[in-house]
Amino acid sequence: MSLMIEGGRRLSGDLTVQGAKNSVLPILAACILSGDVCVLQRCPHLEDVDTSIDILRHLGCAVRWNGPDLEVDSSTLTRWNIPDRLMHRMRSSVVFLGAILARCGQAELSYPGGCAIGARPVDLHLSALEKMGARFDLEDGYILGRCRKLNGAHIHFDFPTVGGTENLLMAAALADGETILENAAREPEVVDLARFLIACGARIEGHGTSVIRIQGVPRLGGCTYRIMPDRIEAGTLLAAAGITDGELLLTDCPFEELDAVIAKMRQMGMEIEPTADGVLARRSCALRGVDVTTQPFPGFPTDMQAQIMSLMCLSEGSGVISETIFENRFMHVQELVRMGADIRLSGHTAIIRGVQRLAGAPVMASDLRASASLVLAGLAAKGTTTVQRIYHLDRGYEHIENKLNAVGARIRREAE
Ligand code: EPZ
Repeated sequence: MSLMIEGGRRLSGDLTVQGAKNSVLPILAACILSGDVCVLQRCPHLEDVDTSIDILRHLGCAVRWNGPDLEVDSSTLTRWNIPDRLMHRMRSSVVFLGAILARCGQAELSYPGGCAIGARPVDLHLSALEKMGARFDLEDGYILGRCRKLNGAHIHFDFPTVGGTENLLMAAALADGETILENAAREPEVVDLARFLIACGARIEGHGTSVIRIQGVPRLGGCTYRIMPDRIEAGTLLAAAGITDGELLLTDCPFEELDAVIAKMRQMGMEIEPTADGVLARRSCALRGVDVTTQPFPGFPTDMQAQIMSLMCLSEGSGVISETIFENRFMHVQELVRMGADIRLSGHTAIIRGVQRLAGAPVMASDLRASASLVLAGLAAKGTTTVQRIYHLDRGYEHIENKLNAVGARIRREAE
């Protein structure tokens, strides 16, 4: 499928931010710890959520939509393996590992391959789980994990891995004794997972800081939990207001969690203010290029790197973007250059010189956030832009063309 985008139209209106993809995915895995019914409110309709639902059903859970809520009953869980066909649809399914081990004492997942943006190793996950008593064999591309019982441990992550922190939170929730995670990820989605686990009866402190303490409990129950709003979708919509010189009011916009992004966009010349009805974003002047370095939270998020690059392509002056989290997250650059952007790469650094305008062109999406950056560029470009392979986009954005068309864009989805 492709998106055909007619550029040059200013966006104006109100939009509601979806539930957070990177929060609901680990929370869906955590549902299996409860052995009960969990109701997730504001669960976004995304390809990756559908994949997680297929995994839960494969494991034996009953999952059903009840209007905007998703109900997960893990009392009927019988399996502990995730087959290749499901793992390869979504490499971040590795976040099921800690929960399956904690619930079943064994786990079998096909080794999560890399993806367009990098090798995506899971060594930090496995070594931390081994400290809790798990043993892993790697056979024929599968991770076979076993543990009689998971025991609390004092773990120090070499890197504040988001997925690794999430896997260990879930494994530690039902372990014997206390687990301390040092150099833990501080991302808001990790905090959301911890809050969900606490709602199920877990004992967790320090989430949101780099030292998290978990006291294992004998069992967890079900709960009803409202997923946090998606700060990356919100940031993408803020960029859409800026790049089209429009004005958007975002309700359910996670303002505090977007500190680093909003600071950079304001530095570029955008006005972004919280109001009683939501966060209002518009351009106050011609945008200016700025320098951005991606960092673990609370630094500038790597998941907004491609989007702010599109914004910079049409700014006055130049800006430098350094990508420090993933080794190959500039796949959108050559596509933006096809549209007339002036971007030069040097290792993990991109130098962007603003141009007067971009020209619509056929471009290829390569990963989730790269495709978002191409949509943003298409919204501002002169003429029509065709973004191909938008299955990448559907993994993380809920009907993005419907949202953007509702505030003045002219986008249609077409078979390739
Ligand atoms: C999560 O990925 C997000 N995905 C990513 O969002 C996000 O970009 C990333 O965190 C960083 O914020 C989900 O939450 C589903 P990491 P994750 O473990 O958990 C290295 C999107 O667009 N590393 O913090 O995989 C790794 O190679 C996606 O929504 C190891 O070396 O991120 C990478 O360079 C893309 N060994 C860095 O750490 C490990 O064992 C960050 O990885 C684990 C990670």
